[in-house]
Amino acid sequence: MTHTNGTAPTDSLFSPSLISPQVSSALPSGYSIRPLERSDFDYGFLDVLRVLTHVGQVTKDEFENRFDEMKAGAGGYHVLVILDGDSKIVGTGALIVERKFIHHLGLVGHIEDIAVAKDQQGKKLGLRIIQALDYVAENVGCYKTILDCSEANEGFYVKCGFKRAGLEMAHYY
Ligand code: ACO
Repeated sequence: MTHTNGTAPTDSLFSPSLISPQVSSALPSGYSIRPLERSDFDYGFLDVLRVLTHVGQVTKDEFENRFDEMKAGAGGYHVLVILDGDSKIVGTGALIVERKFIHHLGLVGHIEDIAVAKDQQGKKLGLRIIQALDYVAENVGCYKTILDCSEANEGFYVKCGFKRAGLEMAHYY
């Protein structure tokens, strides 16, 4: 555990040194995995998220502003992407690191917004995204990682090593 977010190059949301070498080498031939970059608006990032939920008509300026806000957020946001052999983004996932007072200033990882393009599902890319996010969480010092999902996706997360714990509740505004 390093308890550090490393130094991210200008264009990367977080340090590429937090990308698991094991996950990189387990990807299908020609595919790659890296932190989200500020220029990824042009490489299909939001289209991949549309397999997950409503995204809306986000402009490039809006995307870049949100990227800058995330990057300024004290090492909390780790959005990563998988690219296919044509450098098109085909999968994404996020680990948000929450800083706590409890558990002696513990860090908890929250896995959010996992999405694999429809025509790329079933190639273990989802599994690789989760493994890569687990690697980030362990290496920045999280003592656990949690996520919310639908019943329909429970089997996927069980295959990724998660187990059911607690109950999700929500207020919508
Ligand atoms: N239920 C049960 N098992 C599943 C499911 C499922 N819904 N999806 C995949 N699996 C299994 C696979 O069969 C595979 O099993 P195997 O190792 O025995 O062959 C294993 O899980 C790994 O599957 P992958 O190939 O890595 O899965 P994929 O790349 O298709 O990604 C994902 C799965 C992310 C759920 C994808 O289908 C997707 O993008 N769905 C739409 C968006 C979505 O629902 N995202 C998750 C929201 S929850 C959140 O973000 C916290």
